Amino acid sequence: MNKKTILVTGANGQLGSELHQLSKRNTPFNWLFCSSSQLDITNIEMLQNYFNTQSIDAVINAAAYTKVDAAETDQQSAIATNATAVEHLAKICSHQNILLLHISTDYVFDGNHKTPYLPADATSPVGMYAFSKWKGEEILKQYVAENQLRAILVRTSWVFSSYGNNFLKTMLRLMKERSELKVVNDQIGKPTYAFDLAEALIKICQQILLDGKYNFTNTLPVYHFANKGIISWFDFALGIAQQIGYKGNLLPIPTALYPTPAKRPKYSVLDTTSFEADFNLQIPTWQQSLNNCIKAIHEK
Ligand SMILES: NC(=O)c1ccc[n+]([C@@H]2O[C@H](COP(=O)([O-])OP(=O)(O)OC[C@H]3O[C@@H](n4cnc5c(N)ncnc54)[C@H](OP(=O)(O)O)[C@@H]3O)[C@@H](O)[C@H]2O)c1
Repeated sequence: MNKKTILVTGANGQLGSELHQLSKRNTPFNWLFCSSSQLDITNIEMLQNYFNTQSIDAVINAAAYTKVDAAETDQQSAIATNATAVEHLAKICSHQNILLLHISTDYVFDGNHKTPYLPADATSPVGMYAFSKWKGEEILKQYVAENQLRAILVRTSWVFSSYGNNFLKTMLRLMKERSELKVVNDQIGKPTYAFDLAEALIKICQQILLDGKYNFTNTLPVYHFANKGIISWFDFALGIAQQIGYKGNLLPIPTALYPTPAKRPKYSVLDTTSFEADFNLQIPTWQQSLNNCIKAIHEK
């Protein structure tokens, strides 16, 4: 039997790169990886031409406009990539009966909860990046309801990886340069190792494309994926410091002392129970995954 083919958009990002690395292991799929220059998902003609020349069974949309602060002044680009392009992909995938796995963010929540957010909890994005990602979710929901699209939405949070730029890599750099670091301790969330997310997405594809184990309806299934453990950025920095033996001072500070153009949710903890139950997966703790990621960085 021919292997099923999965296309990964945004292939040079953190998630895209982890998927690329994992695809080199023995997965039961053919893989297509496209960077933003090879396949600009905001360009519908480019997308249509590409999809018309390939036989694709699933798309993992790892492409996104992720510059949270820049989005405040570059709203058009954020909307084009995080919302309009999702509609392009949804349209093509529904016409060609392709499974679409789309990734979204904890930022679709305003952060006023005191307990972990469930996938069905009410969304209320704050800031333009958050709004653009929320708009992408809404478009996808509508598309599934009206066009028999097979899609799954996975929200994640605080992504780190040995690829790209992220909090971990910034901390590793700063811990080399400085003897004292101030880190906010009043934003609470869950870090996510992009490798773990990539691995989970591949398992989802396996269960759906090969085992036929998933029942699609006209309601978009929404899931949350993040590593286990609820922490602040300060706790994350402490964890990094411990693992690399940083001898400097780490000081907790309130968000008010580290102002950013876009407001961040104070509490964006994602409840992952339904993800683990529906796909029969166990998600590692952030400490375990941090350790694995630091090793991966050192091996480069
Ligand atoms: N990073 C986080 O902390 C975080 C948190 C929650 C959710 N998420 C979500 O998780 C997903 C993966 O994020 P990530 O951290 O892997 O992001 P990332 O490292 O910023 O990668 C995003 C990739 O998308 C590409 N891209 C941007 N515009 C594109 C376009 N028009 N067409 C095709 N590709 C385009 C970028 O390419 P260029 O570099 O060439 O522009 C980049 O390689 C995204 O949906 C993001 O919203 C991320």
